[in-house]
Amino acid sequence: MSKEIKPLSFKTDCIKGISQKTIEIHHGKLYAGYVNKTNEISEKLGELRKSGKVTGNQIYSELRGLKLGETFARNGSYLHENYFAILGGDGVPTGEVKEAIEKKFGSMNDFLEYFSQCGMAARGWAILAWDMNEQRLMQYNCDAQNHGGVWGCIPIIAMDVYEHSYFIDTGSDRAAYIKAFFENLNWNKINQIYLQAREFSLNL
Ligand SMILES: [Fe+2]
Repeated sequence: MSKEIKPLSFKTDCIKGISQKTIEIHHGKLYAGYVNKTNEISEKLGELRKSGKVTGNQIYSELRGLKLGETFARNGSYLHENYFAILGGDGVPTGEVKEAIEKKFGSMNDFLEYFSQCGMAARGWAILAWDMNEQRLMQYNCDAQNHGGVWGCIPIIAMDVYEHSYFIDTGSDRAAYIKAFFENLNWNKINQIYLQAREFSLNL
């Protein structure tokens, strides 16, 4: 079954500090590109399996190329879906997720300051996740979406810090973009994701 491109849940001109042009390129070209490539790779893997000529080689093989692309494209799709789903709000924290963050990080300000610095330290993504192994919120970074992810985690807040997220608007000033990202967060949606995610735990 083909994966579909999820539409934005907000109007692009209602975002403060991140331009309409940035959001439209980011969603309509880059995110859409990840979804389209996810489908293309999935189709090619299916054809390769059906051909009966699957040969793996760790230096280079068609299978290796597709498998590398698969995790990059799928994780790119999933993380962007979280990113766009949690934008379009008023930036005012609320709900049980707010309480859980305050409990873990001391205060919401402490969390936002820490998460902001994590964003400055990453080359790709800073993520607040529900870790099903730990059964608590954890913060993880990754430099590319297929390097550094932790298995058994559900992203609650996925903050894209690749330059394409902000360079048109703030140039090299990533901190200004991160501040704008926080100001546009939809905490009702973040809380909804948190409540769904915390139902899952891994007891191996
Ligand atoms: Fe992105």
